[in-house]
Amino acid sequence: MKIIAGNWKMNGNPSELAEMLQGLGALDTENRVILCVPYTMLRAGNNIVMLGSQNVSKYDSGAHTGDISAKMVSKSGATVTLVGHSECRTELHDTNADVAERAARALENDLLPIICVGETAPERDAGLTEKIVETGVRESVPKNAANGGFIIAYEPRWAIGAGITPTYDQIQQVHNLIRKTLDEMGFADTPILYGASVTEQNAAEIMSIKNVDGVLVGGASLKKETFVPIINSVK
Ligand code: 13P
Repeated sequence: MKIIAGNWKMNGNPSELAEMLQGLGALDTENRVILCVPYTMLRAGNNIVMLGSQNVSKYDSGAHTGDISAKMVSKSGATVTLVGHSECRTELHDTNADVAERAARALENDLLPIICVGETAPERDAGLTEKIVETGVRESVPKNAANGGFIIAYEPRWAIGAGITPTYDQIQQVHNLIRKTLDEMGFADTPILYGASVTEQNAAEIMSIKNVDGVLVGGASLKKETFVPIINSVK
């Protein structure tokens, strides 16, 4: 069983989502499928798909114009949220501490947080990948997290939407580090996803790497024609 999560980013509309849910609902798969969609499309998922948001506020409620709380997402029927995605770290200037706050609110409201970590190109070039990733995990997981109650996604930020991935050895190395870090933190049962430029061509091989429990897919999750083959590429 693998976890196949899609991130629609700022794409799609309710009728495209309805069509996707109908298509995925007919799949015969043991894999856990998640779709993180824009807030305006949030609703309950179906027998196959868990629906989620792409972020939640650090705050519970109140004077935060434009923000969306974890409780609002939860009340929509959705059950998952991304936090700490590279694009939020860049555009909203989220630090690891901010991400931990968001994840804490998610857990308080019964949402499964997918906590994203990863290095930028300059950080990679400076040899900082392992330091950034380990610190990202240690500082972005909130204090109220329980073993197995959240997911980590490793997304090398330079490879997102770029059509390139690290070598499989590099993915393995980083996932081993995340696994070791989670073990030390008492979270041995926490799944670890790989994300960035996953396609139907590379999904099965990436998911055969030790300590890769699934994938987080951007562009290729937008259409059934490219998402379904990824879901069906593994048992
Ligand atoms: P791409 O699959 O389009 O590279 O996006 C990855 C991503 O950011 C998923 O969260």
